[in-house]
Amino acid sequence: MPLEIVRNDITKMCVDAIVNAANPSLLGGGGVDGAIHRAAGPRLLEACRALHGCRTGEAKITPGFDLPCRHVIHTVGPIWQDGRHGERAMLSSCYKSALALAQAHGCESVAFPLISAGAYGYPRAQAVRVAVDAISGFLLEHEMMVYLVVYTRDAFEISGRLFADIAAYIDDVYVDAHRETCSEAFRRRTQDVLNRRFAGEMEPLPRCAAPMAAQGAELDDRLSRLDEGFSQMLLRKIDEKHMTDAACYKKANIDRRLFHKIKNNPAYRPEKTTVLAFAIALELPLKETRDMLEKAGYALSHASKFDIIVEYFLERGNYNVFEINEALFAFDQSLIGV
Ligand code: APR
Repeated sequence: MPLEIVRNDITKMCVDAIVNAANPSLLGGGGVDGAIHRAAGPRLLEACRALHGCRTGEAKITPGFDLPCRHVIHTVGPIWQDGRHGERAMLSSCYKSALALAQAHGCESVAFPLISAGAYGYPRAQAVRVAVDAISGFLLEHEMMVYLVVYTRDAFEISGRLFADIAAYIDDVYVDAHRETCSEAFRRRTQDVLNRRFAGEMEPLPRCAAPMAAQGAELDDRLSRLDEGFSQMLLRKIDEKHMTDAACYKKANIDRRLFHKIKNNPAYRPEKTTVLAFAIALELPLKETRDMLEKAGYALSHASKFDIIVEYFLERGNYNVFEINEALFAFDQSLIGV
């Protein structure tokens, strides 16, 4: 997915460029600025001296020196006052200036910290939204892999009530062990066989055990109607929603190349989070989401907190992928494309 939110130390990111949340002097400081200078070594400070500072909202570039990245892009975020002094526009400009500079230097991957969300006092959840909006806007027009590196768990401010509500929902439906039911196991094996069939390898369907004859009969019926795979259903739903392909995969934060791989290869089996990202982008009701997952060989499982949290939002018709990610993040789950 072209934009991912990851929890990491930005100085460890192996990307073409990392972005530094600097101050106007560019001569180092604390927080991520200090961490980057320490990891890059003294040559970074020498290179920064030659830049003669940087204005808020603008960006300048140096080599990465001892860091695992090729470049460091230095930008200066706004100091938060009260939100009524142009802070949002200035912060957004930091991301746009840094991305433009990365693009100009042929960078294919960039990692950002949460600019201004530390010493400069920008409220974290708002800082994340500004970052996601600015980066997503850039990715509508450009190909690049962008990471938003959050360093502390409190980057998202999920409301206490929502957190408690989801925790209660998980308690209601979560099953302890990963007890895959017989029919799920049978369905998964059958989907694997069908994928191989699509790929030209003829192989008898797995024999279902006697006790599963019922599921076998039902599944035979479903298989007889399996004239529509995941790829076909996805394209059909895009048409039904009167969306363009590009609008759909951009909203799902799916890379254009991956989308075309799915579109052109009916047997291609995407990751489960990819299927869910499309279902949310298409705002499919829970039943249709389950259908789409099934066509890719997956199912929402109550043995997975990730699945339960996604199900919680779909049941409530909430397709705000940002709020879903806040909840996933709060429960230490991986995120869906932002
Ligand atoms: N990797 C990723 N993120 C980090 C790291 C790290 N190693 N260290 C800190 N952060 C996060 C912080 O948790 C915060 O969310 O970076 C975000 C930005 O915090 P700051 O580094 O304090 O930057 P900012 O709020 O923009 O303030 C800039 O602080 O360090 C000085 O010289 C800098 O004066 C400037 C001011």
